[in-house]
Amino acid sequence: MKRKQFIKIAGMATGALALPAWLNTSVSDSLANPGRFKNKLPIPGEIRDSSFDLTASPAEINLPDGRHLSGFRFNENIPGPTIRQKRGDNVHIRFNNDIGQDSIIHWHGLIVPSAMDGHPRDVISNGTYNYEFRHNQRAGTYWYHPHPHHITGEQVYRGLAGFYFIEDDEEKELNLPDGQYEIPLIIQDRRVNNSGEIVFNPSMHERMMTGLLGDLILVNGMPSPYHEVEPGVYRLRILNGSNARIYNLAFQNGAPFTLIGSDGGLLPEPLEITELLMAPAERADILVDFSEGFDEGTAELISKPFDLPSGGRMMGMRNMMRGGPKQGTGFSLMEFRIEGESHRKPKTLPGQLSEPNFPVTSSADRTRPIRLAMEMMTGHTINGRQFEMERVDEQVKQGDTEIWEFINRSNVPHPMHVHAVQFKVLERSGGRGLLPTETGWKDTTLVMPGETVRVIMTFDSPKGLYIFHCHNLEHEDNGMMANFEIT
Ligand code: C2O
Ligand code: CU
Ligand code: CU
Repeated sequence: MKRKQFIKIAGMATGALALPAWLNTSVSDSLANPGRFKNKLPIPGEIRDSSFDLTASPAEINLPDGRHLSGFRFNENIPGPTIRQKRGDNVHIRFNNDIGQDSIIHWHGLIVPSAMDGHPRDVISNGTYNYEFRHNQRAGTYWYHPHPHHITGEQVYRGLAGFYFIEDDEEKELNLPDGQYEIPLIIQDRRVNNSGEIVFNPSMHERMMTGLLGDLILVNGMPSPYHEVEPGVYRLRILNGSNARIYNLAFQNGAPFTLIGSDGGLLPEPLEITELLMAPAERADILVDFSEGFDEGTAELISKPFDLPSGGRMMGMRNMMRGGPKQGTGFSLMEFRIEGESHRKPKTLPGQLSEPNFPVTSSADRTRPIRLAMEMMTGHTINGRQFEMERVDEQVKQGDTEIWEFINRSNVPHPMHVHAVQFKVLERSGGRGLLPTETGWKDTTLVMPGETVRVIMTFDSPKGLYIFHCHNLEHEDNGMMANFEIT
């Protein structure tokens, strides 16, 4: 019953969208006030060098309306700089840890040797960790963030995250919008207390169940942002960088947009859609034509309400939620102000964007069940166990192709992420089917309560120890993570 509802609501016309009253002053105040998006969207700077420093340090950040964050930042920036690199090139990154906590950086979606992957056992408490690797994979919208055990959620929340773009020739041939016509968007939620402090204080319930759900939405670190665009085609590269919140991206007036890429780069074919569910760590690469479908000179990006399937256990828990609006509530994200004329010539997109080369089911060497659960006594588990730093939970042979079945028997969503690979989602039980992004390469997939999601992947990475985990960062920090070894 719940699942049917989910589909119905997800497919509803946006005209029926009612914005709830929960939203933080800046948004709810302004429901009656068209000038509510009053802060300019920050665009992170870019690093294209092949050798550079990435320094994490503490910072006191003042946001509009008296809000304040005692946070961390990379190279003096929130979000961190966008790293832009070319396929086949080598890179040398010196990660300097000045935050006063253990940390290590993980390049989410990149396929790099174990010692370069940011395994939590490689944390440093200060000083420098040297990363050297080659970009051996397709163009795509990857990202980076810390990965120390138990405190990943806090460090990402307090500001440590940035984009990592890889470019290649296949992508270049498409002549996609670039420069000012390519806009990176990192969407995150935060909790603000009565004195305006952004605080990281997940409750017991949030640690055990939902993950931290904040009441202030930031895009590129800024609440209620606007961005000026010309009436033409833009490429938006979007990351859900939140600890736990799932967004159902759409335009307020229901205008369509074109999905061209997912976690692991270009889709085989572009898809015209009007909404897109994005779990923590998932990315979307979309094209929006601001010259069509938006009348008022503005395009408002929102998260549409969606229903959360329930696993049927502990139903009462939902009423106990405290803090930000519950998962699935709708709200605004930002506004694009459409002005002037477009200076970029329109280009047509080919029917085929890229060669998929997905592994075929018949080539799978084995199927591995991965059971996701929440035990009242132990907390979040994978196959009945919580993370241990050196214990090898799964062994896979280098070069093998495997099907992993993520089985969610808990009553909370788990966005499951595997390091060292990109995978193809084969099927999802329970009627939701594949998401538009799941027609392409993925490294993170949302497993709703009661669902089983099957993915296929080939383990071509260098031998060594890697991890897979839930990307709800409270779940991850609470032990919902496991080691796998490529042998
Ligand atoms: Cu973005 Cu191990 O994660
Ligand atoms: Cu990762
Ligand atoms: Cu989880």
